[in-house]
Amino acid sequence: MRVIIAKDYDAMSVWAGNYVAKRIIDAQPTPEKPFVLGCPTGSSPKGLYKHLIELNKKGVISFQNVITFNMDEYVGLDVNHPESYHSFMWTNFFNHIDIKPENVHILDGNAKDIAVECANYEKMIEDVGGIDLFMGGIGADGHIAFNEPGSSLDSRTRVKTLTTKTILDNSRFFDNDVNQVPKQALTVGVGTVMSAREVLILCNGPQKARALHHMIEEGVSHMWTASMLQMHRHGNVVCDEAACEELRISTYNYFKDKQQLEGIVDYYLNLYK
Ligand code: GLP
Repeated sequence: MRVIIAKDYDAMSVWAGNYVAKRIIDAQPTPEKPFVLGCPTGSSPKGLYKHLIELNKKGVISFQNVITFNMDEYVGLDVNHPESYHSFMWTNFFNHIDIKPENVHILDGNAKDIAVECANYEKMIEDVGGIDLFMGGIGADGHIAFNEPGSSLDSRTRVKTLTTKTILDNSRFFDNDVNQVPKQALTVGVGTVMSAREVLILCNGPQKARALHHMIEEGVSHMWTASMLQMHRHGNVVCDEAACEELRISTYNYFKDKQQLEGIVDYYLNLYK
């Protein structure tokens, strides 16, 4: 697993944005061989999306031949609700780039048959040849997408009931009213994320410090589903200094020394200036 420690949220976002852009550019996607990108929502990726939008506007990168699959969506929330993940993605990303609307895939939380919706989603991912790069955030309880503690580490797309902790965390987007937060979501599984050819997780702020510790320093556990990243051949975590406060000093120093020697932080930070 590669762990990149950026100075702060802005540096994390620029680093991750440039990293993703380079992956897409290097793949030289075409209509016949598009690049398949997995997308998260939440406050963590907002800066990354902002940076990708800037690179698109500057002509550094095009999304014409990029296909996206989002991680999750609330069950029963109108797609036009400002806090639906559909709204989030169009407002914060898709409306501002040259992606083709037909290349965007987001789970339908209002589908009549949820099981069919989830099975079709997996099938669509398979039909385009799998996901090249799955970007993600992490919940304070270590969840990835909406794979709450106790989720099978081999899970595929399905419905999940949210934990009280996640409902409380996400109430900040619903006027701080837990009653307005949907109690269930459709989500890709841990196994779906793990099947991607590469994974990039963003983790910032002191509220994520415990989750970061469990994800990278403790064993793989279904109680911290993001820890499954330890089993991925191309797993990357990009965090900020604030998220590192519960790491052992030796772990912190190891990753800092390594990235210093490799020059990998400055390389990506300065890539498209
Ligand atoms: C939600 C999403 C996750 C996201 C998490 C953290 O639970 N389903 O995909 O990683 O929130 O959100 P934030 O980035 O706002 O802290």
